[in-house]
Amino acid sequence: MKQIIDVKLKTRNVDFSGCKTDVLVVGVFSDAKKLDPVNARLDKKLAGAIGRLIKLGDFKGADKTSAIVYGNEKIGARRVLLVGLGEKDKATVDTIRKATANAAKKSVEIKAKTVALALHNAFGRRFDLSAVGKACGEGTYFGSYIYDEFVTESKDGRLSSLKVEVVDPDLAKLRQLKKGLSAGAVIGRSQSFARTLANRPGNIIYPAKLAAAAQEVARGSKRLSCTVFDKKQLTAKGMGGVLAVGSGSQHEPRFIILKYSPANNKSANKLPLIALVGKAITFDSGGISIKPAANMDEMKLDKTGGIAVLGTMKALAELELPVRVYGIIPSAENLPGGSSYRPGDIINTFSGKTVEVQNTDAEGRIILCDALAYAVKQKCEVVIDIATLTGACMVALGKHMAGLMGNDEELIKQIQKASEDSGEKVWPMPSGDEYAEEMKSKIADLKNIGSRWGGACTAAAFLRQFIGEAKWGHLDIAGMDLIQSASEFSAVGSSGFGVRLLTTYLMNLVDKKK
Ligand code: BES
Ligand code: ZN
Ligand code: ZN
Repeated sequence: MKQIIDVKLKTRNVDFSGCKTDVLVVGVFSDAKKLDPVNARLDKKLAGAIGRLIKLGDFKGADKTSAIVYGNEKIGARRVLLVGLGEKDKATVDTIRKATANAAKKSVEIKAKTVALALHNAFGRRFDLSAVGKACGEGTYFGSYIYDEFVTESKDGRLSSLKVEVVDPDLAKLRQLKKGLSAGAVIGRSQSFARTLANRPGNIIYPAKLAAAAQEVARGSKRLSCTVFDKKQLTAKGMGGVLAVGSGSQHEPRFIILKYSPANNKSANKLPLIALVGKAITFDSGGISIKPAANMDEMKLDKTGGIAVLGTMKALAELELPVRVYGIIPSAENLPGGSSYRPGDIINTFSGKTVEVQNTDAEGRIILCDALAYAVKQKCEVVIDIATLTGACMVALGKHMAGLMGNDEELIKQIQKASEDSGEKVWPMPSGDEYAEEMKSKIADLKNIGSRWGGACTAAAFLRQFIGEAKWGHLDIAGMDLIQSASEFSAVGSSGFGVRLLTTYLMNLVDKKK
């Protein structure tokens, strides 16, 4: 798939004020008493233009803000973009990621072709420079992302490529930044890839198309293989959950398995075999238990868990991490029709457990239970699933963080650490026996919904019953999949949530074992 804006990321060993570029990006804290040495030097060469801007109160260094100062013959840059970093003590690596995204978005808007990033300079040695570089890479892709592949007119007007360089006069510093920057660029590119796939609507992307996209990703790497089960194979394997959910649509369901086998087997074998499992409902109408019409279009994003897994597998293969990973993506379209599954139906799932359907809109858990049981059958020791599973999770946590459930303290901590490192936020929630109790059925092994309350927890407790002895983590990303309106650092539409989180989880795992 072609990336919509072709982003090129590099490092450059150059003096800040001498650096030739369309935009030089520097950071300013809101509570700084005076300009830092680099900004002060720029200000001097610009005859006090930065100082005057700040003094007038037009720019205060607040979070989410920025201001442009035009260059002159004394500096290399045509423009200096001041980006607000907020209060110094509150800053984290995510501050740098967001500020970078802000700068990248502005640069695209003003059609700057070259950008020199010097944001890291404001932080001195406060954060690990490789982590800072990674955030710069991720942020550049995130902020410059736009989705306009079906807009016929605007194309000629907008930027087709963007060259971004992280600049610093200190070569040793630059080397460390570069380590992270290359990883960040891979992750950022995979996240943009995921956002584009996710933004494509149900008439463009349906299970067979998603499977084709996965196969194309696998073709791009020697270390990835891709197997796809179609309806016939799903029937032969007994994947009754995926089949039932997909039965109402002309577009037949698929079960996508990506397998990553690292070159460095010796160190990879010391790590557990991991499965990443993602829900990919290409459109969720609710089925016979149909959803209300308002905002139903947003349910094209019900495939984003699966796409996050696909994006992560792509990043993993490009990073060539020494860890064995399955990416498992059950995919179906949930529509009402003459052949749809119905409330009351009893389904034979892949695990052997029978499920009584009480609501066809609780379809995510039905396709996921086949995928989780499949992962367990492949002897995966760690299984992490990611799904736009419940509106209830969004009610509980809002659109700020994903729900995190699981059965293993250590795994939960590792996911929380990856969350901190990647800026994709999660919050722990329960999923124990009390919740599972609510899904006991009189006529089958379990039913697919619990009581009115704690819907995110009951959904997770449903999944837990298919995990066997594996260590399990569950991410409910309903609410995180969609950015409802454009902000200073993002376009509207898919957020690509999960690609940074899951890839960072895998990177940390590998790092720890080194
Ligand atoms: N895909 C939805 C969940 C969802 C809601 C995702 C809003 C993103 C935004 C899921 O399949 C669903 O419909 N869940 C039901 C479950 C209920 C019937 C128990 C829900 O949340 O209402
Ligand atoms: Zn649903
Ligand atoms: Zn759904």
